[in-house]
Amino acid sequence: MTAQSSDLVSRLEDRNGLTHYDHYIGGTFTPPEDGEYFDTVNPYTGEVWARIAKGGPADVSRAVAAASEAFKSWGRTKPQYRGKLLMDLADLIEANSAHLAEIEVSDNGKLYAEMSAQTRYMAGWYRYYGGLADKIEGAVIPSDKPNILNYTRLEPLGPIAMITPWNSPLLLLAWKLPAALAAGNTVVIKPSEFTSASTLELMKLFEKAGFPLGVVNTVTGFGQEVGAPLVSHPDITKVAFTGSETAGQKIYENAASQFKHVSLELGGKSPNIVFEDADLDAAATGVISGIFAATGQTCIAGSRLLVQRSIHDEFVQRVVALAEQAKIGDPMLPETHVGPVTTRPQFEKVLDYIDIAQREGAKCVLGGAAYTGEGSSGGQFVQPTIFTNVRNEMRIAQEEVFGPVLAVIPFDDEDDALSIANDTNYGLAAGVWTRDIGRAIRLSENLQAGTVWVNTYRAVSFTSPFGGYKRSGLGRESGIDAIKEYLQVKSVWISTAPDTSNPFIIK
Ligand code: NAI
Ligand code: MG
Repeated sequence: MTAQSSDLVSRLEDRNGLTHYDHYIGGTFTPPEDGEYFDTVNPYTGEVWARIAKGGPADVSRAVAAASEAFKSWGRTKPQYRGKLLMDLADLIEANSAHLAEIEVSDNGKLYAEMSAQTRYMAGWYRYYGGLADKIEGAVIPSDKPNILNYTRLEPLGPIAMITPWNSPLLLLAWKLPAALAAGNTVVIKPSEFTSASTLELMKLFEKAGFPLGVVNTVTGFGQEVGAPLVSHPDITKVAFTGSETAGQKIYENAASQFKHVSLELGGKSPNIVFEDADLDAAATGVISGIFAATGQTCIAGSRLLVQRSIHDEFVQRVVALAEQAKIGDPMLPETHVGPVTTRPQFEKVLDYIDIAQREGAKCVLGGAAYTGEGSSGGQFVQPTIFTNVRNEMRIAQEEVFGPVLAVIPFDDEDDALSIANDTNYGLAAGVWTRDIGRAIRLSENLQAGTVWVNTYRAVSFTSPFGGYKRSGLGRESGIDAIKEYLQVKSVWISTAPDTSNPFIIK
C-alpha cells in the first residue's frame, strides 16, 4: 500500500510509477546534489516501492548550514512558542497516524495493527516535550560568597545530528526529536537507508505545523556517505544515535575527536526471568510478546528466557504452544501476528544465528528455518524459533540476534538467576515474573539494566526514562530529565558589592 490517497503527497513519480523521496533541507524538499536515488524495498512483497535521495557530504553541508542558520533565531524564541508548535505537531501526527502507519508498513514490514496504535501514541512524546518547553528552569545558587548573585541558565547546544535505525524509525525519532526542539536546538536527521520514507512524510507535518524553515532537516542515504560526514561536521554539537553497537562505537570515536555530546541507544540481550511462583499464563504471554512481537526486531527483545528448573519443561511447553498459534503473513492484515524481517541482511543474519545455535548444541523445539508457507508472498520470513539446552556462554545467549529467536536457559534459585541475567555485555532491560514482592524488589535493585519490568514486559512511555547500562548505551531518552541531554548549563555570577575589592585575592 502506498500513500497515493493522502493529501500529504507532493512527490514526483517516475516512469514506473515509483515515488521519489527527496531530502528535506531548509523547509524544502530538495533533490540530491548528484542526482542519484536508491531503491527502498517492501519486505513483505520483496518489491521496490519507492526511490530515496542518495545523499553525500554536499547534501550534509547544506542541511547543517540550514540548521545552523535556523538556530540563530530558534534558540532564542519564546519557549511557549516552541511548545505550541510541538503540540500542534502532536495533533497533526494523531490526525495523520493511519497514513504514517501505512508508509511504515510498506517500508518496514511492521504490522499495521501495531503501527496504527504506535503512530497515534507517538504523538505523546511531542505533546509531553511541548509541555516541558517552558518549564526548563535554572537555579539561583545559595552562594558561599558575600555580595554575589549566582544563577544558572540551561541553554541549547546548537545543531544536533540524529541517526536512526530501521526497526522503529518514527518512534525512535520521537524519543529524541521533541526533547531537542523543546530545548531550543535545531536538528539534522539521517534515517536508516532501509526505512527513510516515514521520516520524510513526518517532515510534511512539520511544515504544516508552521515550524520555521531549517529547524528540522532530513538527509537520506547510507552510513558512510551521510552518517559519517554528518557526525564529523564541525557545526554539529551533539549526536543522538540508536542502532548497532558497531555503528555506535564508530560514531562515538568520530564524535570524540571534536568533543561532541553523544547519546547512544544500542543493543540488548535482555533476560525474561520466570520463577516457579509466577502466574505462568501471564508470564508465557509476556515471554511471547517480548520475543515475537515486532518479529523480535527490537532492542528490548526478551531474547533470553531464564526459567526456574522446577517448572522448566512445563513452562517451555506453554510458551511453545502459544508461539505455535502465531499467524505469519501479510503485515496489513489484522489477524497477522508475525510479519517479515525488515531487511535482507537481517534475514540472513537471523538464519545464520539459528545455524550457530544448532552447531553450539542448543536444541530447537520450535521453528528453526525461514517461513515460505501460506501468506508468505515473496517476503523474508523467519519462523518463530525457540532453543532449549542453551548455556549462557553460547553465542546464541550472548549476541544480539534481532529476530524471532528465543534462547531458553534453566536456573536453580534467585542467586543463580541473577548471576546468569547479569552475565552479558548488555544492560538494556530485564523482565521478572514472580508473586513474591520481596524477590521482585531485590531483583529490581540488583539487575544491571536500564529498565526492569515486573510481571509485565515491553512497556514504554514518554513519561519514563529509557536507556542502557553497560554496552547498551549512554544517556537516557524520555521523561523529564531527558531534556537535559539537549541542554548545557551556564553559571552566571553577578557582583552586588557596593565597592571594588583587592584584585590580587581570588574571590
Ligand atoms: P546500523 O547501526 O548500522 O544502522 C543504524 C543507523 O546508523 C543507520 O541510519 C545507518 O545508516 C547509520 N550508520 C551506520 N554506520 C554509520 C557510521 N559509521 N556513521 C554514522 N552513521 C552510521 O544498523 P544496521 O546495520 O541497520 O543493523 C545491524 C544490527 O544492529 C542489527 O542486526 C541489530 O542487531 C542492531 N540494531 C539495533 C537497533 C537498536 O534498536 N538498538 C536498531 C537496529 C539495528
Ligand atoms: Mg524498506
